[in-house]
Amino acid sequence: MKFFIDTADLSQIREANDLGILDGVTTNPSLMAKVGIKGSEAVYQHYKTICEMVDGDISAEVVSTEFKEIVEEGKKLAAIHGNIVVKVPMIREGIKAIKWFTDNGIKTNCTLVFSAGQAILAAKAGATYVSPFIGRIDDSGWEGVQLIEQIADIYGVQGYDTQILAASIRSSNHIIQCAQAGADVVTSPLEPILGLLKHPLTDSGLAKFLEDARKFA
Ligand code: E4P
Repeated sequence: MKFFIDTADLSQIREANDLGILDGVTTNPSLMAKVGIKGSEAVYQHYKTICEMVDGDISAEVVSTEFKEIVEEGKKLAAIHGNIVVKVPMIREGIKAIKWFTDNGIKTNCTLVFSAGQAILAAKAGATYVSPFIGRIDDSGWEGVQLIEQIADIYGVQGYDTQILAASIRSSNHIIQCAQAGADVVTSPLEPILGLLKHPLTDSGLAKFLEDARKFA
């Protein structure tokens, strides 16, 4: 399973990248706004900076909602760097645009996916990635990880190439559950990734080893 970080914060991206296990980055307009990026020039420059920091797929989201505009915006985003993946919302015009990008060799991430039916359409259009938002499903009283399992089953049966990119991750346990459920990629904020490192028995075990090592130092 690939690990992407879900942020536009350069210091967090650097920290995750320094771990040596980072395969890519996802962003969205809310994450860009959170770090104070304003205006299309600044947004494009920010994507370029991220692409130069991380050797992997970098999702850059369109803010257009009509087919022609999505295609034009996506072409500009894709021209920033060879690792850009154009992130397109799961709407009628978005599906048309994903098919166009597929036919024209541009990688896509179909975002805001909340059902298996939406995931089937994304795969039919040839999306590189499909992003089910499991935390938001949990927030609404359903079980987000079950959607990952269902999509993994369907993609397996149908032989779809689209990769399942589990998004809207809220905890380290979400990452583990997504790995078990068959996600190809998980995109997570930094804290749940770092949380995977932690276990109290590791800490107490290491403390004991270091204490004993001092006895023969
Ligand atoms: C990633 O591609 C999504 O934009 C992101 O994971 C959404 O997460 P949120 O539900 O925490 O905003």
